[in-house]
Amino acid sequence: MTDCKMSPKPSQEIKIVAAGQSGRGLDFASKYADFNFAMGSGINTPKAVAPANARLVEAAEKSGRDIGVYTLFMVIADETNELAEAKWQKYKDGADVDALAWMADQGGKDTKADANATAKSINLPEGAVNFNQGLFLGSFEKVAGLLDEAAEVPGTKGIMLVFDDFLEGLESYGPSSDRQSSNAPPTSHERTTHFGFETVAEAEKEARVAGVFSNVATSYDAMNDFMSLGIHRLWKDYFVRSINPGSSSSTSPSEGWKMLDIAGGTGDIAFRLLDHSHTINNSPSSSITISDINPSMLEEGRKRSLQTPYANSPILSFLIANAEDLNTVPSNSIDLYTVAFGIRNFTDKDKALREAYRVLKPGGLFACLEFSGVTNPLLDAVYKRWSFGAIPLIGELVSGDRASYQYLVESIERFPKQEEFRDMIKAAGFVVPGKGWEDLTGGIAAIHKGIKPVEKS
Ligand SMILES: C[S@@+](CC[C@H](N)C(=O)[O-])C[C@H]1O[C@@H](n2cnc3c(N)ncnc32)[C@H](O)[C@@H]1O
Repeated sequence: MTDCKMSPKPSQEIKIVAAGQSGRGLDFASKYADFNFAMGSGINTPKAVAPANARLVEAAEKSGRDIGVYTLFMVIADETNELAEAKWQKYKDGADVDALAWMADQGGKDTKADANATAKSINLPEGAVNFNQGLFLGSFEKVAGLLDEAAEVPGTKGIMLVFDDFLEGLESYGPSSDRQSSNAPPTSHERTTHFGFETVAEAEKEARVAGVFSNVATSYDAMNDFMSLGIHRLWKDYFVRSINPGSSSSTSPSEGWKMLDIAGGTGDIAFRLLDHSHTINNSPSSSITISDINPSMLEEGRKRSLQTPYANSPILSFLIANAEDLNTVPSNSIDLYTVAFGIRNFTDKDKALREAYRVLKPGGLFACLEFSGVTNPLLDAVYKRWSFGAIPLIGELVSGDRASYQYLVESIERFPKQEEFRDMIKAAGFVVPGKGWEDLTGGIAAIHKGIKPVEKS
């Protein structure tokens, strides 16, 4: 293929290796690939790939292209068959058979594959470590003979071998749990975090979250209604009422409340806070800054503000900033810090909480509204079905963007549950009132609060 859309453009041509084993896969490989990558089906002999090879050769004849098969084998060889068998036994004993069986089972469920697909016919030899990619087992002499046989299978252009010292290497690298508990502090480029269910480098998360919110910015408000069946409005109303902004119990009542809505996006929380302060608590000087890392979301907020009485007044300002570093906001300057449906997207949540503590005045309130842990198992099951089944689909239909909404539901699942998040708030220095949180709709969302203590003189 010459039409390469990669950036930076590779300096040389990249060979395409396909891995199709079904009719469709082989057809694709024969049309577009330079090589196909084959696995034996069921039996571990050098000729196990012969049927797949034959089908590929047939498909290639139709497309008129020359495409070769690369077959993958694992090699466990030693001076004698017995020594090699002993090595294999060792690997078999250490194999995660459940995981392999699960993988084989998933492969078999591939609804798009036809009956000939290798995945359908994989049956897992008990304790297998080779997962049916083919195994050359025995003395060096025997393995050399098997290799010759494999090379003679029509259609085979090459053979790729995985040697048993590869497994030794994995062993000495150690299980992932050991690696994580290593005492050596990770360097910043190695440090990872969650992006939905994916593990990504910390440095990468911010950019990917930015991508999600840039993608959804214009459809965000409509999507919120679809996703929560409108309930997010009730939660937000309740959140604001529970804070009672602009009330005279604030730290500086005569000046009104100085509020900061972090991850404020399109301003849903901020406009409610202002409405409540001004109309319910008659506090016309209460003001708010809507802050967000994403200019596209803030731009939507700015547009929406034009429909409110607060547009173009000192009551309302906007700030593009990362919640983890609010360096333009002075310490001890804010009466109320809110963050709604934002903190689960932050890369370093503890750092953001410490920044919240820094900018708040002593006696100031931290208030967070976020998706949380559903306490009732039945509701949890229904909710998970809804969020994982319907929300990405609705995202695709409404905004043509399934992936961003898939991330949103995964990030909800990943976010710490009520107690753990409460403890994170305390660890940042806040005093939490009561048990520290209030569940909404059975824990689908929760409000967490913390107060920055007034220092004793
Ligand atoms: C789900 S929206 C919530 C918007 C609004 N608070 C609401 O309740 O409708 C999450 C927002 O968090 C923002 N965000 C994500 N990471 C951030 C960060 N590190 N600092 C500040 N804002 C961030 C996103 O840009 C996005 O606007």
